[in-house]
Amino acid sequence: MTQLQNPSPLAALDQANKSLASHPKGGISAPDQVTVTAVTHWTDKLFSFQTDRPPGFRFQSGEFAMIGLVDDEGKAVTRAYSIASPHWDDHLEFYSIIVPDGPLTSRLRHVQIGDKIILRPKTTGTLGLARLRDGQRLYLLATGTGFAPFAALIRDPEIYERFEQVILVHGCRTIAELGYSQKIVADSRAHPLIGEMVTRQLHYVPSVTRENFTQTGRITTLLADRKLASSLSLPPLDPAFDRIMICGSIGLNQDIAAQLLEKNFHEGNLSSPGDYVIERAFVGDGI
Ligand code: FAD
Ligand code: A2P
Repeated sequence: MTQLQNPSPLAALDQANKSLASHPKGGISAPDQVTVTAVTHWTDKLFSFQTDRPPGFRFQSGEFAMIGLVDDEGKAVTRAYSIASPHWDDHLEFYSIIVPDGPLTSRLRHVQIGDKIILRPKTTGTLGLARLRDGQRLYLLATGTGFAPFAALIRDPEIYERFEQVILVHGCRTIAELGYSQKIVADSRAHPLIGEMVTRQLHYVPSVTRENFTQTGRITTLLADRKLASSLSLPPLDPAFDRIMICGSIGLNQDIAAQLLEKNFHEGNLSSPGDYVIERAFVGDGI
């Protein structure tokens, strides 16, 4: 598999789309197909599925790939998807929204075990440890399907070697929308190989905004009011010690970045690792 050299994921996405567009009829060669091996529907708008993993398909935890289906005219319809499984796993996993009239997800929602889906071999993304300076604590802040890259990262032993504590905050509208992250965290804690480090070093903070729950409020509010830090008995965010990865809607990403800039956090990239990195969970204004 070829790793994209370009550090900008949106440029890479554009490049991936251009190469698809230039593919005659968007045709799919056999190596670009994987078989669905499991499907779970979490709510009427959210589902996850697993596929087999082609030999030689390599990626780093936190990256995304282009996946899709062939439409009725034989054309490939692909979209960016974070790979929710860690790089060491023998299968691939994805966590998906259902957009009622979405060109891909209105059909992807019906996938079943044994179906074939398209998986393009290039992977890329900004949510990589190489873009962050060393630190004591790593905050992973996600809303909605923005949890997907963190489902991979919290199962990657490297984050527990680089950071003493990992704080995963998943914000959703309702408790039911937390189902996938709750299951991934519970399974990771019980995993025979990584369970001990996950149990010792990962703090999981699910929060909802439109129902009563043990933790309520937007992530931005939890950060601004220092509720998050005080509920975990952690000091306020400090660029000397804390590193942050963010994955959500454009609004969330912008609002958290603004809060971090005020505190003198610097965005990281490959040539100059920094204090935080951001990836969009989707393009658009939300549904
Ligand atoms: P589209 O025409 O692509 O989208 C229609 C509209 O639906 C968008 O304009 C937007 O307003 C809304 N929308 C799209 N995706 C989402 C979403 N995830 N959450 C809330 N609103 C959304 N989607 C996933 O479900 N899981 C992922 O792991 C994932 N990873 C992504 C990684 C990157 C880097 C990017 C850029 C996008 C990612 N997406 C992910 C979004 C995905 O590429 C598609 O947009 C989504 O699957 C819907 O496809 P569609 O063709 O049905 O509708
Ligand atoms: P809220 O319910 O107050 O809008 P969505 O499903 O729209 O993507 O939202 C997922 C979660 O992200 C919701 O809890 C939502 O809160 C929250 N959210 C949406 N926009 C922002 C933002 N700009 N800053 C912080 N949280 C946000």
